[in-house]
Amino acid sequence: MTPALELRNLTKTFALPVRNGWRSTHVNHHAVRDVSLTLPRNAILGLVGESGSGKTTTGMMAMRLVEPSSGQILVDGTDITTMDHTALKPFRRKMQVVFQDSYSALDPMLTLGQIVAEPLHIHGVGTPSEQTDQALNWLQRVGLDRSYGNRYPHELSGGQRQRVAIARALILRPTVLVADEPTSALDVSVKAQIINLLLDLQAEMGLSILFISHDLSVVRSLTDKVAVMFNGRVVEHAPTEAIFTDARHPYTRSLLDAIPVLNPRLRRTRTFLSRADLAASSPRLNQGELAAPATASPDPQLVSVAPDHLVEAIVT
Ligand SMILES: Nc1ncnc2c1ncn2[C@@H]1O[C@H](COP(=O)(O)OP(=O)(O)O)[C@@H](O)[C@H]1O
Ligand SMILES: [Mg+2]
Repeated sequence: MTPALELRNLTKTFALPVRNGWRSTHVNHHAVRDVSLTLPRNAILGLVGESGSGKTTTGMMAMRLVEPSSGQILVDGTDITTMDHTALKPFRRKMQVVFQDSYSALDPMLTLGQIVAEPLHIHGVGTPSEQTDQALNWLQRVGLDRSYGNRYPHELSGGQRQRVAIARALILRPTVLVADEPTSALDVSVKAQIINLLLDLQAEMGLSILFISHDLSVVRSLTDKVAVMFNGRVVEHAPTEAIFTDARHPYTRSLLDAIPVLNPRLRRTRTFLSRADLAASSPRLNQGELAAPATASPDPQLVSVAPDHLVEAIVT
């Protein structure tokens, strides 16, 4: 089946200005390097990695909110990489996003009913009264009462604001939802409620979610597959259980070791790899350790070590 979203060899290079004496020049910063990801239909793909590893830039490129330097974005099998604004509009409907700080995206002057109905309005879906009715239905669906339709964003708690942001993102029935750290600003109990809400809605709607997070315990409970990013590259990509029980890349292992463990007797010895160690940490694998043949190369490449399990490694 055609994947909901496919990213092929996506790269983003930012030109950062630097002053060199009296001359103004720039250096290229490679935020995302050759990232390929597939988000199947009706599935949740986790994108994890430390801050600055390129997760948000990847998610924003998938939505065409940041222009890629090279590579391709396919939505429902259609290449949208170079579509102009008009051609892109129907695809914008299919892709929505929820951020960590969605509050800043909610217009403080609008009622919650207006905020949730706005995407219908923008895309000209339904009459004004149908739009209002659907917005109130969605407020109910995300666990708020219809009466919230007349309230304003400042009256809400952090968790309630995220519920409104989710209602607004889903009212157009998108195929793909990019959720960028949607629970990072929330308390543990509220976080669990929002995760359960996303899980329920995903199952009900058959939604495909790219779930960006550095919170590995949330990722474990929510996702079907996980891609691990380090320094702009995907270093490991596997089904969620394989990531948590059979991680092969040292960077993935160091991330897992950093998960706080409540019972100290269960605490693992931490690896304490430095950035430099990690940068040079691609495992060396020989052909016998691979699930599929690869060409021997001194440069790291993504190779298949088990069905569906890719690791960046140097093949000898
Ligand atoms: N608009 C921008 N201009 C310059 N550099 C940027 C810009 N956006 C992101 N970056 C840089 O790209 C890298 C990846 O950032 P980001 O995608 O936000 O990572 P993450 O979401 O994993 O924390 C970082 O080094 C960041 O500083
Ligand atoms: Mg980010």
